Amino acid sequence: MTTALITGSTAGIGAAFARRLAADGHNLVLVARDTKRLQDQATELHDRHGIEAEVLTADLATDPGIEAVADRLSDRRSPVDLLVNNAGFGSKGRYLDVSMADELKMLKVHCEAVLRLTSAASEAMRERGRGGVVNVASVGAFVPRGTYGASKAWVVQFTQGAAKDLAGSGVRLMALCPGFVRTEFHQRAGMGTDNIPGWMWLDADKLVAAALGDLAHGKTLSIPDPRYKALMALVKVAPRGLLGEVTSRTGRKYGPQ
Ligand SMILES: NC(=O)c1ccc[n+]([C@@H]2O[C@H](COP(=O)([O-])OP(=O)(O)OC[C@H]3O[C@@H](n4cnc5c(N)ncnc54)[C@H](OP(=O)(O)O)[C@@H]3O)[C@@H](O)[C@H]2O)c1
Repeated sequence: MTTALITGSTAGIGAAFARRLAADGHNLVLVARDTKRLQDQATELHDRHGIEAEVLTADLATDPGIEAVADRLSDRRSPVDLLVNNAGFGSKGRYLDVSMADELKMLKVHCEAVLRLTSAASEAMRERGRGGVVNVASVGAFVPRGTYGASKAWVVQFTQGAAKDLAGSGVRLMALCPGFVRTEFHQRAGMGTDNIPGWMWLDADKLVAAALGDLAHGKTLSIPDPRYKALMALVKVAPRGLLGEVTSRTGRKYGPQ
């Protein structure tokens, strides 16, 4: 039986990964800050699917939190076969509207934690000659969009670069770039979603199924929906200035996260 560790497992996309991986028979290590919610989730997944689900309470905006998860990933006696770096959050407001403390916290969770956890997992996986890492980025990585977009662009570049460096080692790394997904994300950030057209919303369970399929096929970048694939193809050829104009006009309230 294999084991998957998911950060931000208790809600949204992380919870969809947990449901799907448990249904497929993987043991789980569930990571988030809310211990009660983690315990309830572990019990439910154990009872429904007969898998073992460990709970690891950690705040990935802190050094001790990152270290606790890195230590679990480095534990050679209880190996982790798949890491899903999913924990993340949005901030409402444009550049200079968001406090410096929140900007730095975002970089800690989206970049530093992802770097340190990917590295801890990849080292152990390389020794065993197999394993996978999914780093959840965003289609926001491809448009000029403040610290959120920049942090997700880092996730994409870092993951694809590391995947290249580890090619042939048996360790697969993939950046996952969702469009809008109905989760707790927008509500937690205090963002309105009324102006987002219905066709732009993705289903978390379908997103996860497509992402795991892409990982199995050895992709290093997954944009798991034809609508967003087409949009991102347009973004690639659109003039950078125009893109910046459109994404800045949309504001941080309603634009793609
Ligand atoms: N929803 C979208 O439209 C969308 C689009 C593109 C990309 N994404 C990305 O997808 C990922 C998941 O987002 P989501 O939409 O599923 O969000 P969500 O529903 O708000 O869930 C976030 C999860 O992360 C955990 N978390 C947040 N901060 C944490 C921290 N400091 N340390 C540890 N765990 C933390 C939360 O649990 P606790 O609060 O208990 O810690 C929760 O389990 C994020 O990286 C996000 O940027 C989302």
